[in-house]
Amino acid sequence: MATGTELRLAHRLDEVGFSDIVQIRNKVMALRASGMQVHALHGGEPYFETPDAIKFAAVTALVQNQTHYAPSSGIAPLREALAAKVSAKNRIPVTVDQVIATVGGSQALYAAFQAVLDPGDDALVFSPYWTPIGDLVRGAQARPLPVPTSTARRSGITATLEQFSTPQTRAIYYNTPQNPSGVVFTRAEAEEVAAFARARNLVVIADEAYEDLVYEGEHFSIASLPGMAKRTITCFTFSKSYAMTGWRGGYAVAQEPFMTALRKIVLYSTNGVPTPVQYAMLAALETPEQEHKARLAEYRKRRDLLVDGLNAVGLECEPPAGAFYAFPNVEKIHRISRTAAEILLDKAHIATIPGSVFGAQGEGHLRFGYALPVAEIEAAVEALKAFVR
Ligand SMILES: Cc1ncc(COP(=O)(O)O)c(C=O)c1O
Repeated sequence: MATGTELRLAHRLDEVGFSDIVQIRNKVMALRASGMQVHALHGGEPYFETPDAIKFAAVTALVQNQTHYAPSSGIAPLREALAAKVSAKNRIPVTVDQVIATVGGSQALYAAFQAVLDPGDDALVFSPYWTPIGDLVRGAQARPLPVPTSTARRSGITATLEQFSTPQTRAIYYNTPQNPSGVVFTRAEAEEVAAFARARNLVVIADEAYEDLVYEGEHFSIASLPGMAKRTITCFTFSKSYAMTGWRGGYAVAQEPFMTALRKIVLYSTNGVPTPVQYAMLAALETPEQEHKARLAEYRKRRDLLVDGLNAVGLECEPPAGAFYAFPNVEKIHRISRTAAEILLDKAHIATIPGSVFGAQGEGHLRFGYALPVAEIEAAVEALKAFVR
């Protein structure tokens, strides 16, 4: 019975969930602790360690007492290097004032949704989508409107966006390469999304976390299109390209009025990225392009190994064009992806993520991550073959 003395949470958290992915990670850790050998294909972390040059830069910064408050939007050399990288590689014309360092891509995305969405607004989200996006939108007391990516690509992007948008729609979440599907949107598709955003006066929140992981086609930044830099907040991370998941380094690119909003959110949440990490980020930006290319070849090998294995056991899977996940239809195992994931974990000791956690459009699929040592992928494929036999 309500006594009027209960402590209550702010309503803005009512619709915000906890990631199922974290719950699966915990289950895998518990199984391993009980002595079970688990093929861990549920994760999304690079197979290699943070390169030494990046680690040394952080250690040097510590030894040189770079341990004080820094400008909350990032130290000047880092922002200069980020502006140069984004202008050259992403072809988004930016000045130093239009970049901000963030605590991972996650803080960039959090700040972007907070900056753009009011309670009662809607955001179009290509689906299946990275699970936290739904929570980030709901945390702004707005509503995610899933737009089936495969329908949009088949039947036309503009018509599909039109079909799912509402008068309250304020933003489009545009992730390429996509997690979990590996879809890489083409330049022509980016142009259609951009034209739609311009026609409806929408803001695009672009998520380019996997920009260096494109096997087919090319990575194309939507903010580089005419008239788009001013209505796009582009979010990047060091996590995937540089194996820096635990460092929590990211950045965002935006123009006014959004940049001031991002600055306020970063200032009042973390007051910036830890100073030594910023020096590590600066060193990471010096990575030669050949190193990204060499790693891409390594990832491609892993992708092909896993995709061949999946197809060999009848789990049909087109090779994903980007990122480091395969997302086959697994209805042969079970129609409901949560049950399929449980069966695979219990019977073959293979941990995956049920497609339904990435939105209704992911149902019937499982996400298999292949950012793993080759031997681990081979072992998982063997376990899969033994399971279907
Ligand atoms: C699509 C996508 N965006 C953004 C991120 C954010 O990564 P981080 O917060 O580690 O930078 C991830 C991480 O898995 C991701 O998959």
